Amino acid sequence: MARPNNSNNTKHTSTSKLIILLACVALLGIALIVDFLWASSTSYLSNWVIDNKSPPNIIIPKNSPKSYKNSTDKDPKRFLSATFADIDAPQLEWEEMASAPVPRLDGAAIQIQNLLFVFAGYGTIDYVHSHVDVYNFTDNTWGERFPMPKEMAHSHLGMVTDGRYIYIVTGQYGPQCRGPTARTFVLDTKAKIWRDMPSLPVPRYAPATQLWRGRLHVMGGSKEDRHEPALEHWSIAVKDGKVLEKEWRTEIPITRGGPHRACVVVDDRLYVIGGQEGDFMAKPGSPIFKCSRRHEVVYADVYMLDHEMRWKELPSMPKPDSHIEFAWAIVNNSIVLVGGTTDKHPVTKKMILTGEVFRFNLDTQKWSVVGKMPFRVKTTLVGYWEGWLYFTSGQRDRGPDDPAPRKVISQMFRTKLNF
Ligand SMILES: *[C@@H]1O[C@H](CO)[C@@H](O)[C@H](O)[C@H]1NC(C)=O
Ligand SMILES: *[C@@H]1O[C@H](CO)[C@@H](O)[C@H](O)[C@H]1NC(C)=O
Ligand SMILES: *[C@@H]1O[C@H](CO)[C@@H](O)[C@H](O)[C@H]1NC(C)=O
Repeated sequence: MARPNNSNNTKHTSTSKLIILLACVALLGIALIVDFLWASSTSYLSNWVIDNKSPPNIIIPKNSPKSYKNSTDKDPKRFLSATFADIDAPQLEWEEMASAPVPRLDGAAIQIQNLLFVFAGYGTIDYVHSHVDVYNFTDNTWGERFPMPKEMAHSHLGMVTDGRYIYIVTGQYGPQCRGPTARTFVLDTKAKIWRDMPSLPVPRYAPATQLWRGRLHVMGGSKEDRHEPALEHWSIAVKDGKVLEKEWRTEIPITRGGPHRACVVVDDRLYVIGGQEGDFMAKPGSPIFKCSRRHEVVYADVYMLDHEMRWKELPSMPKPDSHIEFAWAIVNNSIVLVGGTTDKHPVTKKMILTGEVFRFNLDTQKWSVVGKMPFRVKTTLVGYWEGWLYFTSGQRDRGPDDPAPRKVISQMFRTKLNF
C-alpha cells in the first residue's frame, strides 16, 4: 500500500482526529438523549411502585443538607443532586395518619369544612382513577367513596369550591400523556349530584382556576399539545352550582402562561403562584400516547389581580415551585404551600422535587420557609383543620439524598402549625 506523503498524512490525521472528535460528540449527544428518555420512562412516569409499606408513625426528617456532605457516595452527580435547591429550614414533627385508599399522582383535592374530597389522579402511568375518596378531619378516617362522571378528566383538572358546590373544569382524559377534554362539571357535595356545565372554549391542562366576584375564572394552563403555555383567561357567572350565562367570557390574559400553579382568592384578591412553562408530551405516533419529556421552566413568580383587573407582580417565592395546584391552604391570612417541583438538576437534568413548606404572609407580602416535609413530594393534596396542616398523595423522592421522583404515594401526614 502506497504511503501518502507527509503533509497529506498530517492533514489526513487531523481529519481523522476531527472525525473521531465529532463521533465522540455525537455519542455524547446520543447518550444524553438516551438519558432523557430513560429519565422520562423511569424516574418520572414509569417504574411506579405502589406504596404499601407502613413506616413509623412519627417521622422527623433530617433537615440539614450538611448531613449529606460527607456521604460515602463519591459520585459527584449524586452529591450535587443531594443538595440541589434544598433550603435549610426548621424541623417539623409529622404524624402519619391513615393512608388514602389508593395512591395518586396529579389528583385534585378540595376541602369543605372538616372534609377533604380527593379526586381522580394517576394510580400508575397506565391507570387513572375515576372516583372520589373523602377524608374526615374530625375522626381522621377515610370514609365515603363515589364515582366521577365517566366523561370527566382524570388528571390536570381545574377545581374550586364555594363551600358546597365543587366546580371541575377541563383536564387530561385518560392515562399516559393522552389528550385533554373541555368538559366541565359541578358537584353538589350535600346532595351528591353531578351536573354538566358549558365546556371551556378549548381544553386546557392544569389551568389556574378560582371563584372570584361571582364568576368561575379559568386561566393559563397548557394548550392541547400538553406543552405550549396558554395565556387565555375566561370566566362565567355561577351561583349555588348553577351557571348564569350561556358562554364563557374572555378576560384579561394572564401575564405568563403554563400549568400546575396554585391559584388562591383571599380578601377579594386573586393570586397565581409558581407553576411552569412546558410539560411532558405524547410521543408522536405512539398508540398509547406514551409520555416523553420536554423542556420545562419552573416559575417562582407570583401575580395578583385586584378590582382594577390588571395583573400585578408580587415578591417571588424563595425558589421556583410547580405542581402545587392543590398543595395550598389559607392559614391566618397566609398562604401555605407544600412541596412541588423546582428547577431541574443542572447536571443530570432530572426533575427535582421540593420538600419545603412555604408561607406567604399576605399582611407583609413576605415569603418564608416554615419547615421541612418528611420527604420531598409533588402534586400533593393539602388540607388544614384545627391547627393541623395535612398532606396526602403525590409522587415522592427517591430518598433524602436523591430528590428525583419515584413512588406514587397514598400516605397522609399532618403537622401542627404555629405562626
Ligand atoms: C467532612 O469531612 C472533612 C474531611 O474529612 C471535614 O474536614 C469536614 O469537617 C467534614 N464535614 C462535615 C459536615 O462533617
Ligand atoms: C366526620 O366524623 C365525625 C366524628 O366521627 C362525624 O360526626 C361526622 O358525621 C363525620 N362526617 C361525615 C361526612 O362522615
Ligand atoms: C392563628 O391565629 C390564632 C389567633 O391569633 C392563633 O390562636 C393560632 O395559633 C394561629 N394559627 C397558627 C397556625 O399559627
